[in-house]
Amino acid sequence: MKVLDIDFIRQQFPVFQTELGQKVGFLDNAGGSYVAGAVIDRLTDFYTNYKVQPYGANPISNQAGEAMDEGRSTMAALLNVPMERVTLGASSTQNFNTLTIACTPLVQKDTEVIVTEQDHESNIGGWERLCQRQGATLTFWKVNPETGELDLEDLEKLLSPRTVILCVTHSSNIIGTINPINRIARLARQNNTRLVVDGVSYAPHSWPNLDELDVDAYVFSTYKTYGTHQGVMVVKESFLEELEPQCHFFNVPYPYKQLDAAGPDHAAIAALAGIGDYFSTVYEHNFGSSGEVPLHEKARVVSALMHQHETELSAYLLDHLKDLPVRIYGRSTSDGREANIALASPKVPAKALADGLVAYDVAAKNGHFYAYRLLETMGVKDLNDGVLRISLSHYNTREEVERCVKGLGELLYQLEF
Ligand SMILES: Cc1ncc(COP(=O)(O)O)c(C=O)c1O
Repeated sequence: MKVLDIDFIRQQFPVFQTELGQKVGFLDNAGGSYVAGAVIDRLTDFYTNYKVQPYGANPISNQAGEAMDEGRSTMAALLNVPMERVTLGASSTQNFNTLTIACTPLVQKDTEVIVTEQDHESNIGGWERLCQRQGATLTFWKVNPETGELDLEDLEKLLSPRTVILCVTHSSNIIGTINPINRIARLARQNNTRLVVDGVSYAPHSWPNLDELDVDAYVFSTYKTYGTHQGVMVVKESFLEELEPQCHFFNVPYPYKQLDAAGPDHAAIAALAGIGDYFSTVYEHNFGSSGEVPLHEKARVVSALMHQHETELSAYLLDHLKDLPVRIYGRSTSDGREANIALASPKVPAKALADGLVAYDVAAKNGHFYAYRLLETMGVKDLNDGVLRISLSHYNTREEVERCVKGLGELLYQLEF
C-alpha cells in the first residue's frame, strides 16, 4: 500500500524551510492552508514579469493573459469540467452572495429555499436575505443537537413543490461529518429542486470529484487547498441558464463571467495553475511519469493518499481526546468525517486552550468559525469563545498531533477554574 512521503510533501511548502514553520505545529488548516511552493512560484513570476492589464497585444500584457488562461484551464482540468463552467471570485462568500442574487428569477413569492443549520453562514445568510426580499420562505433543515448531524428523513418531510433551491454543505467545518450528497441530490431531483453545495470544508481533505456529484452548483476556496485566495464556483449549464447574469451586459456571452461582478485578481488566478503543478509533482513522486494521466485523475489519486494520512492522524487524535474531559463535537471516530475536530471543556474556555497551546508550539483556534447557528443549536453558550478547532492537513506530522494531545492533556488540568 502506498503511503504519503511526508518529508517530500513538506519540501514542497517553503514555509517548512523557515524557523517558525519548522517549530510550529500548524493545526488551524481549516482557516486557511499553507501555500504550495509551486503556487508561490507562479505568483512571483506574475508579479515580477507581467503584472499589467492582461490580454493586450504587447508581449508583457499578452503573457499576463496567457498565464491567467492557464490558471483557469488548470482549475477546470483539475475538476474535469469545461472552463466555461468555472467562476472564479474573491472568496466563496462572495460567490455565494452573487449566486443568491442571480437566483432572483427562481426565488419568487410563495417559493421556498431550504438551508441547513449545519452550514457555514456564507451558504445561509445570502439565501435568507434573498427570501426576505422576494417574500419567499427560508426553511432550516435542522441538525440533531447532540450529534450536529443531518437526517435525510427530515429532508424528505421538508421538501415540497414550493422548494426551488436546497443548500447544504459537503462536510461540516465544525463536526467534520461528510454528508451523502448524491442521496440528497436524488431527493432534490425527484422534487425538481436545484442543489447548491458548499465544498469549502471538504475540498482540502478530498479533492472534489464532480463527475460523481450530481449538483447544480459546487463552491470551494483555493486558499484552503494550498493555493491563492480565490473562490471557485462550478455551475451546471442548465442552472446557469435559469439565473440572472450579474456581470456587465457585454460580458453575458461568456458564461464564466456571468457570476463574477468584479474585476478578477489576475495574479491569483494565474497562480492557481500551481495547484495543478503541486498535484502533478506529488503524483510523479509516487507513481512515476504521468504524461498520459489527466490532471483530475492525478488530483484524485494524490488526494486519496493525503486523505489516508490525515485519517490516520485524526484517528490518533480522536482516540486520545476521548480520555480527556472534553466534549467532542461530532463523531468520536474518524469514520465518515474529515479531519476537523472541534472540542470544548465544561470548565476551561476554548480561548484559554488555544492560547495555552502556543507554549507547546501548536497553532489551533477557538471561535464559532461562522457556523454560528450550528454551535448555538448544539448548546454552546458563549459563541465568541465557541469551540477549540483542531484541523489537520496532509502535511501535518504525527509528532505535531502528539504535541497537541500532550498540551491539551496538561492544560485542561492546569487551567481548570
Ligand atoms: C464550510 C465553509 N464554507 C464557506 C466558507 C467561506 O469561505 P470564504 O472565506 O472563501 O468566503 C468557509 C470559510 O471558512 C467555510 O469553512
